[in-house]
Amino acid sequence: MKILITGGAGFIGSHVVRLFLNKYPDYTIYNLDKLTYAGNLENLTDIEQSSNYHFIKGDITNEDFITSLFKKEQFDAVIHLAAESHVDRSITNPLEFIMTNIVGTVNLLNAARSIWGDNYDNNIFYHVSTDEVYGSLGDTGYFLETTNYDPRSPYSASKASSDHLVRAYYHTYGLPVKLSNCSNNYGSHQFPEKLIPLMINNIKNNKPLPIYGKGDNIRDWLWVNDHARAIDDVFHKGIIGETYNIGGHNEWKNIDLVYQLCTVMDKKLNREKGTSEKLITFVKDRAGHDMRYAIDATKIKNELGWEPSITFEEGLEKTVDWYLENEKWLNNVTSGAYKEYYQAQYN
Ligand code: NAD
Ligand code: DAU
Repeated sequence: MKILITGGAGFIGSHVVRLFLNKYPDYTIYNLDKLTYAGNLENLTDIEQSSNYHFIKGDITNEDFITSLFKKEQFDAVIHLAAESHVDRSITNPLEFIMTNIVGTVNLLNAARSIWGDNYDNNIFYHVSTDEVYGSLGDTGYFLETTNYDPRSPYSASKASSDHLVRAYYHTYGLPVKLSNCSNNYGSHQFPEKLIPLMINNIKNNKPLPIYGKGDNIRDWLWVNDHARAIDDVFHKGIIGETYNIGGHNEWKNIDLVYQLCTVMDKKLNREKGTSEKLITFVKDRAGHDMRYAIDATKIKNELGWEPSITFEEGLEKTVDWYLENEKWLNNVTSGAYKEYYQAQYN
């Protein structure tokens, strides 16, 4: 089986590439990635020599390139993760999100149709999406697969649009699609613009910890390796045309999560308990900040047998250990353009 994984040099994509290469040595994996600021081949140094792995540098918004790549390689299946993924950047530059997340997805859908025709032979177009398409919850309730879409940021609106288009290609052309919508991921190799690695990096460097608003927004956190396992299950066992919500039943208020992280970091860095939390600083809130996300993952549990494999406490400790052990990776991604981004976003 020849599988195209898009965005495989990013955070979640690199974990999916690694899992598929290690678990399915008979598959050939093609990783297509533009290598934006978020794409990093250092995420894949442990597997880049595998004989069944190929890296292709390219942009999914380039229609001619995508069309000829599919004609040349005749992929059997696609797992589509490439995206602009950071909400704050979508507030500053929405058009980039429209281009990659919507136009890029349509280019891939068209290219898959053009090589698979109408006679699908175990082909799969798997679109990886987010729980943010469902909008923002109040104090109670959960996102189900049947929850109405109500995206509220340019990022989530662009992901919602791509989800609709993927389903439209299933209904209109019979393209064999699968979708999943996952909650917030954390773990190794995540770019430090996102909450957890940003806070780890700042605690390590004794820099202020910027909490948006009052810190009472709630997110439902899942270890990235468990998301990759879920993607494996949906890809192999999920039903064509279906959507699966993925989440860890693990809700945290941002401020409580950062306190927890400070406690873990104090221990790891041999700092006196309570040292790191003194760095907490409340800053201007994110525009249109969604209050609460929480996934009901009953369907994937009952139908595919997937469940998270570790607790949040275990996952957070593993994550902190990885960042502390991989100082070179962290220094490389926080030099250069990151400094400018940080300055513009936080000062
Ligand atoms: P990421 O930003 O870490 O990685 C995105 C990857 O896509 C990068 O390697 C980047 O170079 C690549 N890319 C961007 N634009 C491209 C283009 N035009 N052509 C080719 N490649 C391009 O993102 P992530 O956090 O790993 O998220 C991966 C996917 O999972 C996204 O679709 C995202 O919406 C979804 N998702 C993320 C989370 C999360 O918590 N991070 C949760 C649920 C769903
Ligand atoms: O829910 C899934 C989504 O989770 C994914 O689709 C997105 O790609 C991913 O980026 C993530 O979106 P969030 O906006 O929830 O993640 P982020 O890490 O940016 O922020 C998490 C929470 O922390 C959010 O409420 C905003 C807050 N925050 C974030 C940053 C970067 C802060 O308070 N301070 C910060 O500096």
